[in-house]
Amino acid sequence: MEHWKEENKEIVEAAKVIRKGGLVLFPTETVYGIGANALNDEAVKKIFVAKGRAQDNPLILHISDMDMLSQIADNISELEYRLMDAFWPGPFTIVLNKKEGIANVATCNGNTCGVRMPSNKIAHDLIKETNCPIAAPSANISGRPSGTNLKDIMEELQGKVDYMIDGGECEIGLESTVVRVIGNEVRILRPGKITKEEIESVASSATIDKNVMGSINANERVLSPGMKYRHYAPNTQCVLVYGEDNEKMVEEILKIAKENRKALILSTTENMEKYIGFECLDMGSKINLLEISHNIFSLLRKVDTYEVDVAIIEGVKAEGLGLAIMNRLIRACEHHYIEVN
Ligand code: TXA
Ligand code: MG
Repeated sequence: MEHWKEENKEIVEAAKVIRKGGLVLFPTETVYGIGANALNDEAVKKIFVAKGRAQDNPLILHISDMDMLSQIADNISELEYRLMDAFWPGPFTIVLNKKEGIANVATCNGNTCGVRMPSNKIAHDLIKETNCPIAAPSANISGRPSGTNLKDIMEELQGKVDYMIDGGECEIGLESTVVRVIGNEVRILRPGKITKEEIESVASSATIDKNVMGSINANERVLSPGMKYRHYAPNTQCVLVYGEDNEKMVEEILKIAKENRKALILSTTENMEKYIGFECLDMGSKINLLEISHNIFSLLRKVDTYEVDVAIIEGVKAEGLGLAIMNRLIRACEHHYIEVN
């Protein structure tokens, strides 16, 4: 134990900061998080201030073992246990009934709590060393793309947190899948690395909430408040172009690029050579969606530095991890998209 502390001084220090009510920037396998002691309402309030986050958008509570779960959640069903068993530790958040009277700020005074057990070693060790659930949203100012490496978010969050742990690049690059069990049905509130198909292998029925791809009216009641806010959008006008027929998609992108004085294209690796003469960024291979998910937030953060009139983004098939990628891209483009057929 002493040996472990000696070798993990940063984690020991960060855990102290959290126990004292401070904020810590830390890596997870999905994106970086800004963490505070979930059970300390005053500490959690600072997260909302640091991010400029809406007061009605609850935070995910991160745990390192099942004992911690029993401190925060109640009346867990057999299906909920089966899902946790299948996907924890990992990029999977489940909305459960909350124990009364705790984590009121983190859960926005609601009677549910979103819970996740991360697999990233630093995240796991930090929660364990802190010995309390850690409330943590993605590390970004609200509305900006989530941070997937320290360099991207350093400037934005400098002075807003008390301690930072550098864990390199986040492996997945997109936030966790968020679900809520309703009866025997698993409702996917936010798509992520754990796909509908994987969930269906554990539960008899999984459905994607209608708000995942659609746009939401400001006053509509939603199961997951995060769905209704402006998200990930660069200041540059972005348009998403997608369709089954690759050649037609490329044609449409070239047409839009030529109509503008200066355009930037976010292309899959396979299509890069088709856009010669235009400013292009490589998102990754369309047959390796993990590569695209890993890169996408960092690329969206770069878009504004090109000072173009439009950024044209290639879509991918909205299946498996592709659904999570398209969900983030549609928001980045503020629902400006063209389907070619
Ligand atoms: O991968 C992730 O989930 C990252 C890392 C840091 O763990 N965290 C993250 O947190 O993405 P955030 O706050 O950016 O997104 C949390 C999402 C929001 O859409 C929020 O509305 C939803 O989860 N959420 C949290 N608690 C909820 C609850 N009790 N009921 C419904 N939705 C909830
Ligand atoms: Mg977020």
